[in-house]
Order: sequence, then structure tokens, then C-alpha cells
Amino acid sequence: MENPVIRPRRLRRTPALRRLVAETAVAPRQLILPVFVREGITEPQAISSMPGVYQHTRDSLRKVVSEAAHLGLGGVMLFGIPEQKDAVGSGAVDPAGILNVAIADVAAEVGDALPVMADLCIDEFTDHGHCGVLAADGTVDNDATLEVYAEMARAQAAAGVHLVGTSGMMDGQVAVARTALDGAGHTDVSILAYSTKYASAFYGPFREAVGSSLIGDRRTYQQDPANAREGVREALLDVEQGADIVMVKPALGFLDVVRQVRDAVDVPVAAYNISGEYSMVEAAAANGWIDREAAIVETLTSIHRAGADVILTYWAAEAVRLLHDR
Ligand code: PBG
Repeated sequence: MENPVIRPRRLRRTPALRRLVAETAVAPRQLILPVFVREGITEPQAISSMPGVYQHTRDSLRKVVSEAAHLGLGGVMLFGIPEQKDAVGSGAVDPAGILNVAIADVAAEVGDALPVMADLCIDEFTDHGHCGVLAADGTVDNDATLEVYAEMARAQAAAGVHLVGTSGMMDGQVAVARTALDGAGHTDVSILAYSTKYASAFYGPFREAVGSSLIGDRRTYQQDPANAREGVREALLDVEQGADIVMVKPALGFLDVVRQVRDAVDVPVAAYNISGEYSMVEAAAANGWIDREAAIVETLTSIHRAGADVILTYWAAEAVRLLHDR
């Protein structure tokens, strides 16, 4: 057998050569840190299924967000955990509700230095845990929910949010949010649409993080993981309705969808490296089964390579150091 003339290994010989020809590099500016703020607590609370992630007090939230700004992150995505829940998620639209006061706190802390985003969905605020209000027969009522989302969009904008993250998977939610924002004079508030959102088993740890009351599942509104074409369709519909950024979620099981959406739309594409993806790496690393830091960098690089311009990840702050040290 002849020796090979073409030797791809030549460019892999040293770290400097590999760095020279790397096709993909994630930057801190592309990472968004999701953060949880909980009403009625005086100390940050650890989330057992997400080691290293906390439910924050209003004070500790301000510190975390100010650090995110100093690190040059792409933004923060806020989730609120209220003390009281009800059938229609009243706490989500109340200007004094935990998420809205947290938006105001954070916006005052960072000004325009860091994009402030908030989850626009009522599942943290409903006593049944669904992302919408229920009809008499117990199903999630799409159009009645849209009215709540409109009010929630106005409340978040009034509190100073820069981007609302429409995550409830109701049909027409982006158009409704856009109309509500514009009607209230908030034409500058952007929409980060969770366009292509699958009903995933990997949201498990998040449900602990937000103290979810959900019994059952969200399969009548979130997508079937079997469907990629439908995922692209959802993204296109959201662009038509005025989405400024579209998102695919979860990320790792759906990298093919991230790529297809990236190729189909002309707005920035985000991907959410969700709780279960975080916890699997943390758990395996805690057992000594994988190299934690290498796994984090590989995860984020792969999501970016698949086509995500922006990545939501619980590792965002730490990743700044890891990506720099590569
Ligand atoms: C809905 C929402 C969820 C997540 C983000 N926004 C939960 C769900 O759809 O059940 C999950 C995020 C994660 O798992 O990290 N408010």
C-alpha cells in the first residue's frame, strides 16, 4: 500500500495549528444566561437537580446580572417563581408580580449594557402548571391564553424588558405580542420567539427549578420530537408574525432542526441548551465519567456549529473562561 499524500492530520498536530483552522468559535457575546428569581426568599436556594444553579433573591439576582454584564455576555433570560399561583396566572401580568419587579430591578442595574429578556409564558404562575388558561373541558384554550400573553407583554415592557421570550407555544402568540407591544408604544421591544419548541423529557430539572405544578405533559401545544419539517414551519410562521429572533429548543437532540431553521430564515437563530442537557453533563462529571469542562466547550461549540447564532445556557458565565482558555 502507498503512503497517503493527503494527510488531514497535518493541521491537527499542535494546538496552534488547530486554532488556526478552527471553523467555529463561540463568543461570550453569543451566550445568554437563564436566571431564576423567587419571591419570598431571603437567601439564594440551590436547585438539587441543577448543581451550581440557584433560585435567586431580588438582591442576588442583581449581582448575577451585573456580573453577566461585566463578562460581556449576550444577555440574561429571567424566570420568576411566585409565592401564589392561580388558574389564570395573575402574577404574570401584575406589575408587582415577581417577574415584573425583577425585570425592573435588573433593567435599572444594567441599563443598555446587557440585553434583558424575560420568559413570556404563564406556566410558572398557574396552579395547574400549564402554559395557558384552561377551557371548561380542561384543555388549554389557545385564544383565551393569547389575551393573557398580550397583557403580560405590556407588563414586561412597562417594567423595562428589552426582549420578550414568547415560550408558550400558542398559535399566533408572536403576532399578539407584537400588536400588544406596539399598541402600548413599545415598538423598540424585541421578540425572541421560542418558535420551535418540543415537548421534551429533558425539561425535567427546570420543572424543579421553577417549582412547576404541572401534572401530565404539554404535548397538545409543544411539538412532537419526531417532526423537523414542522419545526421549520413554526419558525417561518413566527418570522411572518414579527419575531426578531427565532429559537429551537431543546438544542442537543435537535441540532438537525437548528441547521434547517438557520438555512430557512433570515433572522438570528437561538438554541436553548436546556436544563436536562446541563444536568446530564453535571451528573456524569460528578461521577467522574466525563471531563466536565471539555464537555461544556464541546456542547456549546456543537450547538454553534449546527447553526445557532445565540445560545441560552446555564454555563454562560463559566463558559467565558473556558472558551478563552481553549
Ligand atoms: C416555559 C419554559 C420551559 C423552559 C423554558 N421556558 C419549560 C417547559 O416548557 O416546560 C425549559 C427550560 C429548561 O429546561 O432549561 N416557561
